[in-house]
Amino acid sequence: MKSPAKKGLAQILVGGQWGDEGKGKIIDVLMEHTDVVVRSQGGNNAGHTVEVGSEKFVLHLIPSGILRPGRLCVIGNGTVIDPVSILEEIRGLEARGIKTKGRLFISDRAHLVLPYHRLIDAGRESQKGRKIGTTKRGIGPAYGDKIARIGFRMHDLLDPDTFSTKLRAQCRAINADCRARNWEQVNIPATLRDLAAAARDLQPYIVETVDLLHRWRQAGKSFLFEGAQGTFLDIDFGTYPYVTSSNTTAAGACTGSGFPPHAIDRVIGVVKAYTTRVGEGPMPSQDDALGDYLHGLGREFGATTGRARRCGWFDAVLVRFARIINGVDQWAVTNLDGLDALDRIPVCVAYSLDGKRLNAPPSSITDLARCRPILKTFKGWRRDTSGIRSWRKLPAEARAYLDALAHLTGSPITTISVGPGREQTFSCP
Ligand code: GDP
Ligand code: IMO
Ligand code: MG
Repeated sequence: MKSPAKKGLAQILVGGQWGDEGKGKIIDVLMEHTDVVVRSQGGNNAGHTVEVGSEKFVLHLIPSGILRPGRLCVIGNGTVIDPVSILEEIRGLEARGIKTKGRLFISDRAHLVLPYHRLIDAGRESQKGRKIGTTKRGIGPAYGDKIARIGFRMHDLLDPDTFSTKLRAQCRAINADCRARNWEQVNIPATLRDLAAAARDLQPYIVETVDLLHRWRQAGKSFLFEGAQGTFLDIDFGTYPYVTSSNTTAAGACTGSGFPPHAIDRVIGVVKAYTTRVGEGPMPSQDDALGDYLHGLGREFGATTGRARRCGWFDAVLVRFARIINGVDQWAVTNLDGLDALDRIPVCVAYSLDGKRLNAPPSSITDLARCRPILKTFKGWRRDTSGIRSWRKLPAEARAYLDALAHLTGSPITTISVGPGREQTFSCP
């Protein structure tokens, strides 16, 4: 992929669908020419896959740029961090020869995901009629405590005695609630012990990251904001309540890091050449035959929970909306090779609801669930594209398909991915 990041360039990368668009792979490619990578929302509900040669990495909270030697990695204030889980991730990377000390910086303002958040997440998921299909990582309850102003933050780990006292009291209060609901309760001694150990080991990574980002910006470093999840999992603009609990859209990169909005130069949206979704909630272009076909190829199983992803045709109604709210300047389209064997490839160009044609998704999920896709069918190329390395060499039908996606969504496609490897990526003219 060409166009190395120029000095000082700040780019945001967002998922344009329901997550798992291949963000990790594209981040890894862009980081070849970028100095600093920043996660600004979400937690270890994310699973970003990067394949480097024969090695496969799945990153959950640590920015995917960590795999590029020497790059600086920041986990911003807008994230939620499970201290025990992030230490496991750090140790897993170190064991594979990836250095984190002096390269990974965690905001002291980021909120903590604690064991009781996971138990509450699981408890809520078990309630009849309330299932969201979460990753059960405690994300929703942790963000809930943040907004309710009863959460703990990373800087609390730097004052272990006060933290321990407050945490014990909080665990007792929560256990009383869980008992009343018949939900599993927190093991208080184990929680206090595990958190004390994690606090000690995480201390060297916890800093005030706003000042760090500011200084690096003044020094002319280039930045990439690594979006997690995707536009339709956004707490405001997604298919509420079947969403995650953070702002996954471009604006979240600024509130989640303290980086000023006027300093952002470009927004890159990542979309699959088709659509996938994990968990509950409406998905108008879902097509189970496509799902069976992709699962049969061993594709589209979740990187975090292993669940089979629901699959469907490219939904231009959603992606057009994603372009508008994120201000997407350009698209990277991944997994084009997933469509290689198909004769005909439908694209959802609009919805039909009660006899009316809709060009944007309705806000109510009850209405969205009743929308029928209006499909336009494109001719398949029936050729293996995974070895192709240039736009020119793509089959004419594949070029026509991609041109149509750019036209339907309103922004140019500048990057195409035809396989999980770094080298299986090229630019469009
Ligand atoms: P993310 O959460 O957006 O980073 O995406 P995931 O890592 O959860 O899921 C994307 C999956 O698609 C991973 O298994 C990637 O290795 C894989 N992938 C990314 N781009 C391509 C591509 O162009 N072709 C193929 N075959 N796989 C891809
Ligand atoms: P990446 O960054 C796909 C989904 C869950 C569920 C909903 C709420 O890898 O693209 P949560 O645990 O966040 O409360 O679950 O959001 N979800 C994702 N789906 N990719 C992700 O991340 C996701 N993170 C959360 O499946 O439907
Ligand atoms: Mg993923």
